[in-house]
Amino acid sequence: MSETNTITSTLPGQREQARMLELFWHPVCTATELAAVAPQPLAVTLLGRRLAVARTESGAVVALSDRCPHRSAKLSVGWVDGEEVRCAYHGWTFRGDGRCTSIPAMPDGPIPERANIAGFEVEERYGLVWVRLDASAETSIPAHPAHEREARDPGSIKILVGEPYTWPTAAPRRVENFVDLSHFAWVHAGTLGRRDEPVPPMPTIGRTGGELRFTFDPPEMTVEETALFGHSEYRMPMPLTVSIEFFLGTGAYRHLWMTACPVDMGSCRSFWTVSRDDDLDGDDASHMEFQALVLREDEPVVCNQDPPELVLEPGFEVSVKTDKVSIEYRRWLSQLVAAAAEGGPAVRQVLDSVMTAPR
Ligand code: FES
Ligand SMILES: [Fe+2]
Repeated sequence: MSETNTITSTLPGQREQARMLELFWHPVCTATELAAVAPQPLAVTLLGRRLAVARTESGAVVALSDRCPHRSAKLSVGWVDGEEVRCAYHGWTFRGDGRCTSIPAMPDGPIPERANIAGFEVEERYGLVWVRLDASAETSIPAHPAHEREARDPGSIKILVGEPYTWPTAAPRRVENFVDLSHFAWVHAGTLGRRDEPVPPMPTIGRTGGELRFTFDPPEMTVEETALFGHSEYRMPMPLTVSIEFFLGTGAYRHLWMTACPVDMGSCRSFWTVSRDDDLDGDDASHMEFQALVLREDEPVVCNQDPPELVLEPGFEVSVKTDKVSIEYRRWLSQLVAAAAEGGPAVRQVLDSVMTAPR
């Protein structure tokens, strides 16, 4: 896959990071977005690669390279025809695996080998369409604890799906911002943190099952009833997902989940959910509003990190010891990037590394 890597950033390590990210599942759209444009495919971009995503007549979802090899028309302006996607320009058809199955102007063939395009693996989960560009590391779709609770005990939890948003910042920067404990006092003063308590706790961080895990207790402060605030258990399924379970003083359970799709190395689209097991009949909008407020506070800062790319080379940015979570996150990312240069099995090995000793 790396030969066709379309990453153009000239900053250090970007192609290598992209190569690593190709080995993971990423959400590219919601099932609702796909349905809204049917029978036309939806055009999405993943790691700089343009894809046409479509649901075929049998209900399967396919993800194809969004360029017809004939005269370079985008397949996303074509349409679904049975189990295939038909190009709008001269009607060539393509199967989900990328094989060209017909050239209407030449019904007796032959279909040249070079008429075949790339088709990628697709899965649907949590109402999202996930694509993996390279299967060689046997990675899996990140866990979603609220969906697991719902499966165990239907009706016990309300899962609200946020509107996905695209920010001009690298996906790992977006993720890092979510778990950056020392920004709460500044960016979220009065919402999640206090200016007069700028020293964050230093959590014990472990690696288990491909996730970085730690817990966090926010400072004493009065917050709105809809706040996602309280003893927090963080899980970060590597490389681009954050799941935070909140155990409120009232006994309520709340959950925030987000995964950042790397559109390219300098922008990402975040998909997210907010869940709760209390106030089930309450006003959903007010529960969403709290997280929307947090996002409005983050956006002007995170969208103005320059460069938007995350450069992992040591010395590019200055870390201090209270950046413990992001230091550990970057350490694991760097190990995954190095392993990706050796191939999928090496990545699998780094992903399975367990770290229980407190750091
Ligand atoms: S450009 Fe697609 S069929 Fe000609
Ligand atoms: Fe924030």
